[in-house]
Amino acid sequence: MTIDFTVNGRPVSVDAEPDTPLLWVLRDELRLTGTKFGCGIAQCGACTVHLDGQPRRSCITPIETVAGSAVTTIEGLSGKEAEVVQDAWRALDVPQCGYCQSGQVMSAVALLQEVPKPSDDDIDGAMAGNICRCATYVRIRQAIHDAAGKLEG
Ligand code: FES
Ligand code: FES
Repeated sequence: MTIDFTVNGRPVSVDAEPDTPLLWVLRDELRLTGTKFGCGIAQCGACTVHLDGQPRRSCITPIETVAGSAVTTIEGLSGKEAEVVQDAWRALDVPQCGYCQSGQVMSAVALLQEVPKPSDDDIDGAMAGNICRCATYVRIRQAIHDAAGKLEG
């Protein structure tokens, strides 16, 4: 079937089986490889994108459900929350191997869009589904607090 939606503000039309995961379409068809495959079963968060502004695991999102929606990937992230998060990530040198980090950033930006000044509990709740094998969790939490501070200023 043909599915029409937007990716990073650009209209796209893809031909795919209805149950094809959005992640496959992003990486293999649209060549947006910043979104990573980790587990394929919604357990790691590496594949996180925004679907109509909400964080979504693209590995378990059938492409047919995306029709008419707006998808944002790490390549197209913009806005003030995205800016302060990416600045904080750089300032604290958050990534280690980097594999999980686009998913972490997507979840962190979605959190700050909802909760501009999150508590540790808010952060733990929002980021719980994003696994980091390099255990960068302490820096991630600090970076989100730093980013939130910049949003205030
Ligand atoms: S690849 Fe989607 S949650 Fe792990
Ligand atoms: S930085 Fe290596 S998995 Fe998170």
